[in-house]
Parts: sequence; C-alpha cells; structure tokens
Amino acid sequence: MSTFKGKDFLKLLDFSTDEILSLILLAEKLKAMKKNGITHKLCEGKNAALIFEKTSTRTRCSFEVAARDLGMGTTYLSPEASQIGKKESIADTARVLSGMFDGIEYRGFGQARAEELAKYAWVPVWNGLTNEFHPTQILADLLTLKEQFGSLNGLNFVYMGDARFNMGNSLMVGCAKTGINFTVCAPEKYFPDKKLIDTCREFASVNNSALTFTPSVDAALKGANAVYTDIWVSMGEPTEVWSERLNDLSPYQVNADVMAKAEKDAVFMHCLPSYHDLNTEVGKAVCEKFGRTELEVTDEVFESGASVVFREAENRMHTIKAVMAATLSEDDII
Ligand code: CP
Ligand code: NVA
Repeated sequence: MSTFKGKDFLKLLDFSTDEILSLILLAEKLKAMKKNGITHKLCEGKNAALIFEKTSTRTRCSFEVAARDLGMGTTYLSPEASQIGKKESIADTARVLSGMFDGIEYRGFGQARAEELAKYAWVPVWNGLTNEFHPTQILADLLTLKEQFGSLNGLNFVYMGDARFNMGNSLMVGCAKTGINFTVCAPEKYFPDKKLIDTCREFASVNNSALTFTPSVDAALKGANAVYTDIWVSMGEPTEVWSERLNDLSPYQVNADVMAKAEKDAVFMHCLPSYHDLNTEVGKAVCEKFGRTELEVTDEVFESGASVVFREAENRMHTIKAVMAATLSEDDII
C-alpha cells in the first residue's frame, strides 16, 4: 500500500527524498495523461474541503481543477465565510469537516494552525500555504526544474530576497532533500532561521549538496541554473514594512544584470503573484509611493525567454493532483 495513503501533507520536512521524488513522478504521469486526453477518476466519489484564510488564485484553482479531474467534489471556505478560529476552534472544525469530507486543504497563518487541524482531523490535511511553509508550491517548482534540466541532483539554485518566510524556508528544504545546491542571496538578516538551516544541512550532506548564504550577488550567481524570487512583503505582513524591504532588498531585485551573471541557459522562477509592472493595485501603489516601476523582478526578466513562471503555475495543478491522489486513492498508484 502507498506510504502516502491517509497521510497529511503539511511540510516537506515530514517526507523522505524518495517520497518527494515519487510524488513528482506521479505528477509527471498525471500531467502526461491530462495532455493526452486520458481521463481517470482516481478518487471518484470523494470530497475535499478547501479552507482559505488568505486569498489565492493558483492554489485554489489547482485544488478545484485537480479534484474535478480526480472525480472529486470540493467545497470552498473563503477568508470571510469560514468560522474557523473566530467562532469555532480549529480542533472542532477539524472534527466537523472530517465527518463530511475525505480531505481538507488549509491555507492560513501560522504553521501551528495547520498542524493543529491535522492533529484533530482523521482525514488527510494538505497545507495550501502558511507563513512558514508552502510545500505544494515546491513540488511544482521541482517538477518544473526536472522538466527543464532532466534531473534535479547537482543543479545550482539561487533564491534572491527575503528567505525567512514560506518560500525561502520551503525551497531550502526541497532543495536539500533532492540534492540541489541551494543559495540564499540577501542581507544576513533575511537568511532563514538557524535551526531550520541546521536541519537542512543534515539533509544536504546526505544528498551531497551545499547550502550557501551570502549577501554577494556575484558570488551567488556564479554557475546558477535557476534564479528564484518572491514578493518582498507577503500576505499577512503589515504594509509598513515595505519601506525597509525596499531599502534592504532593492540590490537583490532580479534584473537583466543579475541574470547575466547566471549560466547562459538559467531559468527565472517565481511562485507568483509578482509585482513586475504597474498593472496591479498593490504594485502600483507601492511603486508610486517609492518612485519605482517594478519591484522584486523587472518586467524585462519576467517576460524574457528565461522565465518559466507560467509553467510553474500550471504545474501547481499537476502536483496538487498527485498529492490528493497519493493520499486518497484506493488504488496503489504510487
Ligand atoms: N503561488 C501561489 O500560491 O499562488 P496563489 O496565492 O494565487 O495561490
Ligand atoms: N510569500 C508569499 C507567497 C505567495 C504564494 C506570501 O506568503 O504571500
């Protein structure tokens, strides 16, 4: 029987290298089936609750489309509509939803809330983003890298910007677990938590990969196969931090000069959404206030041939489908 059956998917730290690679393999198979018009209902008749305490485009759509392809139904609980934590405890919500659904997706604030939901639920809980981790995004990123370069082991991956939040943390875990050399390029105060770094160093040493933390753009980009960034102020953070982030992180904007320091065939990656132009309310307001036209990445790089951001976005759906199928399917598919 699959080692995933009935399990939660809360963070990549909970899974072995083989398990992570097997999920990516399953996602590749499911993607190929979808592209070839081969339908299946691997989770026919099952239902998932989708709790979103923060907004979403990709993650919500991925869960809904993937569930439909798997033969499942979904119920969306919006940031406003859910009682969770406000009028009903997480523990009670977990037990109510477990009686009606076969799996629960949770996007919210602290990781502890996702872990608590999972503790009380008797159906799998899937993390759709917390402040600390975004594991389904990392599966999509790893699948994208594998498609691009053929394999993961030995690739040089550079994360530019604030690496203390969900994306920096989870990418570090994902890279260390799959033998990718992972570099954070940022001022020291934006490096991930030391305890998490120490844990990841253990995985990296088993997989013969290196973890590097440097404020030097030149040093970080040497030999880079992939350059990744995220927005400088995440959901749930106060808008007052924009000024400090712009000050600290502007030298780490991914622009053409930065990409020119990487390998010739290097890719640009971003979890999205991104502030690469003035076509968003928030991006425009911040740019107007601080006299900028683009933030964490220039429009030139975002729209360049090196950018694989929309493939990453598509791969969210295939990898989330793999997570739901692996944890719910009655068949031995993994
Ligand atoms: N990358 C990502 O999680 O996007 P959404 O916030 O739109 O779900
Ligand atoms: N760090 C971002 C990621 C969005 C997918 C946030 O939490 O808002």
